[in-house]
Parts: sequence; structure tokens; C-alpha cells
Amino acid sequence: MKKIYIFSICIFVLFSCSHREDSVSLLLYNQSDPYVNIFADQIKYLGAKSFQLDTFDSQNSQIIQNEFIEEQMDKTDLMIINPVDRLGAYSIIKKLKSKGIPVIFFNREPLSEDLDLWDKAYYVGARAQQSGQIQAQMIMTLFGTDPVNLNRHDKNGNGIIETVILKGEQGHQDAEIRTSEVVKSFSENKFQLDILITEVANWKRDEAYEKMKIILELYGDSVELVISNNDAMALGAISIMRQSGFFRDDNHDGKIGTDDDSWLPVVGIDGLDEAIELIEKGYLYGSVLNDSRSQAQAIVELSEVLMKGGDLESMNFPLVDGNYIWIDYKVLQ
Ligand code: BGC
Repeated sequence: MKKIYIFSICIFVLFSCSHREDSVSLLLYNQSDPYVNIFADQIKYLGAKSFQLDTFDSQNSQIIQNEFIEEQMDKTDLMIINPVDRLGAYSIIKKLKSKGIPVIFFNREPLSEDLDLWDKAYYVGARAQQSGQIQAQMIMTLFGTDPVNLNRHDKNGNGIIETVILKGEQGHQDAEIRTSEVVKSFSENKFQLDILITEVANWKRDEAYEKMKIILELYGDSVELVISNNDAMALGAISIMRQSGFFRDDNHDGKIGTDDDSWLPVVGIDGLDEAIELIEKGYLYGSVLNDSRSQAQAIVELSEVLMKGGDLESMNFPLVDGNYIWIDYKVLQ
């Protein structure tokens, strides 16, 4: 009887050890960022069946994030990191490599030479160039596709689109590349753009609201277009624009839209639920889906393969250049 009892305990211990759930740490640059918050929810939801996930909010501080990484290093099998400072990835990769912990970065792209420091360091994201190009395409279509014969959206009829740009955080690859690429796409297509002002609003709705308030005081009626690096800032701009008399139903057709005199094109990026609602209501001209669901799927699949020793070559999301997975942006209108 005693023998059977001891045998059962051994089997139980062996069984529970071999079925220990893999432990993953998810580090966010700032949970109060609406896009990142939704992204994290997708990772938690999709990863729930495969591993035990602990989430850490770095509150926009690389120092706090580094402390979390330090604390978790001996407890975790893999880290999924949204770095506060993309240049901070260098020391993170070196540290994790020394402990043999695979790492998947997302949303804030490390330098490629830093990723190359270790063959178990990966980046899952979207190509920022593409989002700028899609924004430009939407706007060129709105202005009539012919650069030398702009339609009535060129309000002063001077053949030039007077533009305001709301920029995300300086140094963030998405802020820099989206801004330069949207401008480049216009000039490649021979559209003339007059950038009245580029304001950095750090991805934030409230900051964009305040900045746009000043912009409207300075430039008022001359603005013909607002290009925003993300939806949160576009939503902030639309709030103050509505309070300042834009977006009325001037032609009394019961809708807000491109036919109203007080309508002005505002474009964003991300595809937040609230942005989609404002597109449907006619306030936001369009957005570009920064597909966090597919990116989260890719992150979860890659995590599973790395921890369970599966085949990297046969994943649903193919690896490019050894350590990248890219998800396409899509038009939202
Ligand atoms: C998103 C922004 C977000 C930022 C955070 C960007 O890709 O478009 O909405 O604030 O990432 O890093």
C-alpha cells in the first residue's frame, strides 16, 4: 500500500514538473497609451491558452522597465517587450542573451544592428513607410487625383494643399517615418503641399487638442488638411475643431461629410474603435489599420515555437531577414 502511495506521489511530481506552464513576461512602455493597451489585451487573450503571462507597465520610464527586466530574468522563459526607448534595446538584448532568454520586441523597433546581437531576438511590427503612403493615397484621391487640377477641397484654389501635421514622439520610428513618407509620397506624385506647421503631440489626444487649439488661432481658415501620425491625436484635433465650428451639417442633409463647407479632412493611423466610429459619422476622413490583432497572433505563435522548440520555418507568419515578422497596414475608410 505504502509503495503504491509513494509511486503515485512520484508520478504526480514528475507529471506536474513536465507540464509546468511556460512563463512569459510582457513589458509595456506605457499602459495608458490606448493603442498599446488594446495591443496588450490581444496578446493576453491569444496567449492565455499557451503560457502564463505577467504584465508590467513601465509608465514611460526606461529605468522602471529595466528594473522589471532585472527582476523577471530568473523567473521567466521568454520576454515580450515594447521598449520605452528603442535605443535601450541594446543593453536589454545583451542581458537576456547572457541568460539565454529569448526576446520579442514589438511596436518600438530596435536598431537592426542591435537585433543582430542575438539570434533569439525578434521584432514583430508594421512597416511605417506603408502607413504614410496609404495616408497620402487617401488624401490624393480626396483632392481629385490630378495634382494640377485640385478639386474644391483646395479651398483657396491656389493648387497647393495647406497642411498641418500632428507628429508622435520624436525619435519613435513610426513618428519619423510616417511623417517623412507621407510628405515624400505627395511630392513623388507631383502634389504640392504647404506644411503650415508640424507640431509634436507625443501620440496623445489631450496634447493634440491643446496644440490644435493654438494652430487654429494662428492659421484658422487657411488649413485645408490635418495629417496625424495616430488616431488618438486625430481625435484630440477633431474635438477642438468641432468646438471651433468645424464639422457642422451645413447642407442640412442630416450627415456630417465632405459636402459640408465646414468639413475638413483629418486622417489618422491605428484603427481605434472610436476612430472607426468617427469615420462612420463623417468627422474623421480615414485611418490606417495598424493591425494589433495580427501582430499579437504573430507574437504568440513565435513565443510558442521558441519555447516549445518548434519549427521557425513553418509558422503562419513567416520570418523575414532572420528576425522580423511584418504585418501589413490597411486602409480604413
Ligand atoms: C501607434 C501609436 C502609439 C505608439 C506607441 C504607434 O505605432 O500608432 O498610437 O502611441 O505606437 O509606441
